[in-house]
Amino acid sequence: MSLKSEIERRRTFAIISHPDAGKTTLTEKLLLFGGAIHIAGAVKSNKIKKTATSDFMEIERQRGISVATSVMGFDYRDIKINILDTPGHKDFAEDTYRTLSAADSVIVVIDVAKGVEEQTEKLVEVCRMRKIPIMVFINKLDREGKDAFELLDEIEQKLHLKVRPLSWPIGMGYDFKGVYNLYEKKLFLYEGSDKQIREEPKEITDLDDNILDEYLGDATQELREEVELVNTVYPEFDAETYRNSEISPVFFGSALNNFGVKELLDCFLDIAPSPLPRQTKTREVSPYEEKFTGFVFKIHANMDPNHRDRLAFVKIVSGIFKRNTNYLHTRLNKKLKFAAPTAFMAQKKSVIDEAYPGDIVGIHDTGNFKIGDSLTEGEQLEFVGIPSFAPEIFRYIENADPMKSKQLAKGVDQLMDEGVAQLFIRNHNGRKIIGTVGALQFEVIEYRLKHEYGASSRWSPVDFYKACWITGDEKQLEEFKKQKYRTMAKDKHGRDVYLAETSYSLQMAQQNYPKLQFHFKSEF
Ligand code: G4P
Repeated sequence: MSLKSEIERRRTFAIISHPDAGKTTLTEKLLLFGGAIHIAGAVKSNKIKKTATSDFMEIERQRGISVATSVMGFDYRDIKINILDTPGHKDFAEDTYRTLSAADSVIVVIDVAKGVEEQTEKLVEVCRMRKIPIMVFINKLDREGKDAFELLDEIEQKLHLKVRPLSWPIGMGYDFKGVYNLYEKKLFLYEGSDKQIREEPKEITDLDDNILDEYLGDATQELREEVELVNTVYPEFDAETYRNSEISPVFFGSALNNFGVKELLDCFLDIAPSPLPRQTKTREVSPYEEKFTGFVFKIHANMDPNHRDRLAFVKIVSGIFKRNTNYLHTRLNKKLKFAAPTAFMAQKKSVIDEAYPGDIVGIHDTGNFKIGDSLTEGEQLEFVGIPSFAPEIFRYIENADPMKSKQLAKGVDQLMDEGVAQLFIRNHNGRKIIGTVGALQFEVIEYRLKHEYGASSRWSPVDFYKACWITGDEKQLEEFKKQKYRTMAKDKHGRDVYLAETSYSLQMAQQNYPKLQFHFKSEF
């Protein structure tokens, strides 16, 4: 098959949701369609349950699962699907943001009863920033929930998405009768979770057809009126507009009952974008370029402390990636070749000889990679769009065992490369501060330093509101650094970071120093 057809048959996407909306269940159903798994329950949720906050073994177990389910590749309808899994726990939101940098599109799952929840808002904001096309699946229609129109309004208001329903629910909860699929013009009747045999969908192109009354009885008129309203209120669906991230198609169903899932997948495969071009610091790289390029969006440490190597996840952007071939690691300006790159097929990993744009390969790494690193056939490129976000929780990290200071330094260094957290060194006292977006990270860091690096660490409190990177007018910057010397620090790359004590002090600083830029993402 040519490079072009390999690219066109690939769909690489992430499923995102607030915890418990049904992401894992939906993923599992998609895998069942692809024949990638054969029984329900095979995909373990990689979410860290609330009760697990101080259970380190549970965190480790979950980390293990998350490697297995990080990327799930399978073939369906001749299309190579790569689902990128994202951790549900909010303390691991950074991981999710980075994973989104490797996704060409996204499916958002929303619980019909809960509507748009906080975590979904944040994740969709990142997708909108990156202009990732979004499809919405409203889940749990077998339960009582919000009115469909009300939910669509909520999505438009809270997620700032323009929506276009492509299916429409008929009743819900106890009275849930099914959905009318506006995309395929078919009626899907719901028979409840206890019935094993599903009736074929009914092809109904004209909702005025009397046959509809036979199927739906009293609910028919309501469906007719609602669909008419949908067609008046929402713009006609156009796949190109969706691919330009200007409109989000919406489907309704129940992942648990496998209802509405196949239709979601079929439509998704028809309209979702194949691998997209990507921006570097110097130019845009098209997937169709002959030469291989790719970037690291995730690094996972080995679970086995006897093997210190890590797994770097590389998204192929262009060309064909080949095993045992020399590639340029552009940050280190060093040629590297990979003897055992792995592909992720559902839950299995297997060594591959070739991979195409859209694919993710796992590369064993002995410490060469950082999040965001680029690989090419020789061109000096640096892919952009994999930023770290301004941390909001801070603690001093201290060495609890003077004999192990080297191990601690190495451990901290490597964990930061993995993107677990960010390290800042305070200018006035040289103390090391770790900044994270979630409190659970501190437990993970302490545990991993001990078990993977044999280092003992201790946290001591330090109170800041937010860290932000500062650039701008040289004179003002010098003045600012002098004025704020107690709250200035350097990041790992030696860049100036202001640790604002309160939101007020940040606001004042922004007002008083108009020639300075305050960045809330590490990439600017
Ligand atoms: P998440 O990955 O987004 O966190 O959600 P997950 O799929 O784990 O689903 C959360 C809970 O919602 C699960 O129940 C799951 O069975 C249930 N669920 C998912 N889809 C539907 C649906 O369409 N209808 C109904 N009624 N429930 C649904 P749980 O009791 O928390 O877990 P489990 O013990 O069933 O695994």
